[in-house]
Amino acid sequence: MLQQLIYMSVSAKELSSKDLEQILNASRRNNLEKNVTGLLVIKGKTFLQVLEGESQIIKPLFQKLKEDQRHHDISIISWDVIEKRDFPHWTMGFKNLATFPNHSELLDLSKLDISKLSTTPSLIHDLIQELLNLE
Ligand SMILES: Cc1cc2nc3c(=O)[nH]c(=O)nc-3n(C[C@H](O)[C@H](O)[C@H](O)COP(=O)(O)O)c2cc1C
Repeated sequence: MLQQLIYMSVSAKELSSKDLEQILNASRRNNLEKNVTGLLVIKGKTFLQVLEGESQIIKPLFQKLKEDQRHHDISIISWDVIEKRDFPHWTMGFKNLATFPNHSELLDLSKLDISKLSTTPSLIHDLIQELLNLE
């Protein structure tokens, strides 16, 4: 069963580009092997991640993520069964919003109301669409 998990978390410290590179390299290597796709977004210390894959893969991956000391305060925004992936070609897409200074309020991740996001599915999908439109 294909699932899509979206969560937000807070990084333990201000991560350097080298720290981020390490996370991304390991993620892409593991995800390729496990047919996991998705997107990782960072704004300051706030992470937003979309993970897509088979439920028997996503469950233990999320367990591992929760134990990762590099972030904390993990909040699930949605965890749905999906028919097709939003990011079929990305073992882990990446956007660092620090490099997009003139972005909209929606993209100021630390100011998002997580409970509102989790109860209003259209909001997270609008947000993802905005992220994808960034160039
Ligand atoms: C914000 C964040 C996102 C991560 N995303 C992934 C991911 O998509 N896939 C993955 O395998 N590991 C991801 N990790 C890393 C895992 O927590 C864990 O360190 C890694 O999977 C262990 O890999 P290894 O068993 O090959 O050493 C992420 C870590 C952080 C902090």
